[in-house]
Amino acid sequence: MNQDALKKQVGIEAARHIKNDMIVGLGTGSTVAYLIDEIARRIKEEKLTITGVSTSNATSKHAKKLGIPLKTIDEVDFVDLTIDGADEISADFQGIKGGGGALLFEKIVANYSRKYIWIVDESKLVDKIGNFPLPIEVVVYGAKQIYKILENKGYHPQFRYKKNKNFFVTDNGNFIIDLHLIDPIKDPTALGGELKKMVGVIEHGLFLNMVDTVIIGTNTGIQVLNAT
Ligand code: 5RP
Repeated sequence: MNQDALKKQVGIEAARHIKNDMIVGLGTGSTVAYLIDEIARRIKEEKLTITGVSTSNATSKHAKKLGIPLKTIDEVDFVDLTIDGADEISADFQGIKGGGGALLFEKIVANYSRKYIWIVDESKLVDKIGNFPLPIEVVVYGAKQIYKILENKGYHPQFRYKKNKNFFVTDNGNFIIDLHLIDPIKDPTALGGELKKMVGVIEHGLFLNMVDTVIIGTNTGIQVLNAT
């Protein structure tokens, strides 16, 4: 099976965890797109009733087009379950997210969720995180100063650009700087703390001690790993 087929498989499988009347956090990305399609199918064919809480403009657009009712995170008291993709997951369930640039809203929605599931194909599993470029969302004003600090620290930063060579701008109007750390991150908690302390850094893509369950699409079937 190719990577896309594995993503579809886990997207469909994850939708089975959703029950009637749940408030469901909807992540962002190509794997979540399959989840959204399957939720829409269940709403139509099985009369499933849910409220979605979106993590990006792209997800909102997709969900609305398929008739999935949405509320913002401030319109709900809590989220029953959030299902999202991930870019890298270590053996001890630490993750890097933000490949699609939606890390801030993804982290906010996950933070208010009673259960948090990641859906990935098997290529996302690693021993230690750090090979995938670590995204950092930064305020536009002063972004080049942050870039210089990160460069001096030896973190190999790169501004994220769109295909047309303009800066990539997040749904919140910020820039993304990706850190090409090359080596595995020795202490993700320390790095996360260091990044958060920098003035102008809004959020980073280290999702530490957050996930409950990982659903993995493999060529030999679906694998489910529980972190808690
Ligand atoms: C977006 C994300 C995505 O969940 C992550 O990039 C995985 O995406 P995909 O399912 O397309 O591989 O964090 O900000």
